[in-house]
Amino acid sequence: MNKSNQKLAINGGTPVSANPILIHKPYLDEDDFKSVDTAMRTTFISGDGPECREFEKNLAKYLDVKHALFLNSATTALDLAFRVKDFPQGSEVIVPNFTYTSTALGVLYNNLKVRLVDVYEDNGSIDLSKIEALINNKTVAIAPVDYGGIPPDMDKLNEIAKKYNLFVVHDTAQSIGSEFKGKKTGNLADISTFSFHGTKNLTTGEGGAITTNDDKLAERIKILREKGTNKYSFLTDNVTRGYYEYVDIGNSYVQSNILGAMGITQLNKLDWMNNRRKEIADYYLQELKGIDGLDFLNITEGATHNWHLFGILVPPADKYWIMDALRAEGVMSNVHYTPLHRNKYYSNLGTDNEFPGSMKFFNRLLRLPIYPSLTDNEKELVVKAVKKNFA
Ligand SMILES: Cc1ncc(COP(=O)(O)O)c(C=O)c1O
Repeated sequence: MNKSNQKLAINGGTPVSANPILIHKPYLDEDDFKSVDTAMRTTFISGDGPECREFEKNLAKYLDVKHALFLNSATTALDLAFRVKDFPQGSEVIVPNFTYTSTALGVLYNNLKVRLVDVYEDNGSIDLSKIEALINNKTVAIAPVDYGGIPPDMDKLNEIAKKYNLFVVHDTAQSIGSEFKGKKTGNLADISTFSFHGTKNLTTGEGGAITTNDDKLAERIKILREKGTNKYSFLTDNVTRGYYEYVDIGNSYVQSNILGAMGITQLNKLDWMNNRRKEIADYYLQELKGIDGLDFLNITEGATHNWHLFGILVPPADKYWIMDALRAEGVMSNVHYTPLHRNKYYSNLGTDNEFPGSMKFFNRLLRLPIYPSLTDNEKELVVKAVKKNFA
């Protein structure tokens, strides 16, 4: 790496790409535009409409799980995932330190306590060897996270959970379509929580879902997401038809029927979109392998990757320089997440020394553009920019 090379755009040379290559872009096509238009014209635009129900049915089938419930975000899904269990106040939940704030927020909204656990330095995934030391008589749940789309070894995680009778909330916000040992995420834990935010592999702009095989939990979530009412079947239930009651506490976490329609058309092309991501990832893996100082994230044995993100691990001392140099070349790159304890709100939850894996991972991680509409020309420019800066 020659940082003073005058050909580098950061030093005033000509950029590899004249137009910035974005890091994320949602993939939307005519099917999405038409489905949204049609749903609007039905005038059923409020929550939990027929398109939402159809999306839920299709999603459950795709994931091979009994229940999929469409919500307005993964953040609300995480809130409900804990709420539905009524854990005693002050109970503890083990959360990986390398995650988005929402994993911890779901715990905190329910007056539970976050216990942070370290992650592996080569992929940011929950360090299974460090979980048991954190378990005590107040521990009620573990919330593994599929960083970038890579699931942890869910067999081992569920084994630990079973041994201590813990509930597993799998934060699958980023991993739709990924698998572990032939099963899709969403069907690997007591409850799983997906995000359909604009950056995700399947998007409804904002949105999320909860999935579970537990009938009782699913029934209660239908109530909790609809302001604590039993409105879910008020048109179809023969006994109470046309009448519903306030039966529990709740919040308004249902999703608009317009976005249900978008979920259906997005899901129809999810495998195609994920395959396109894989083609790009395979190209990066092939072209960037063997570069001195550049490593890839380790994919858990037995798992497949939906390539939500493409991360590279670079020398810590050069990370921000490389990020700036790539941006100067016209290739957007970023750093995300900052370990929870490094954020103001969570700074009381630990120190760098307690999370060596998380710090090593964070200090080396950079992300490259990956999304279905990234063209072959753009993917080649990304590789060219990386190679230019590592030369
Ligand atoms: C791991 C994880 N959990 C939860 C969320 C929150 O998702 P949403 O924006 O749908 O609330 C995100 C968002 O990126 C995430 O990465």
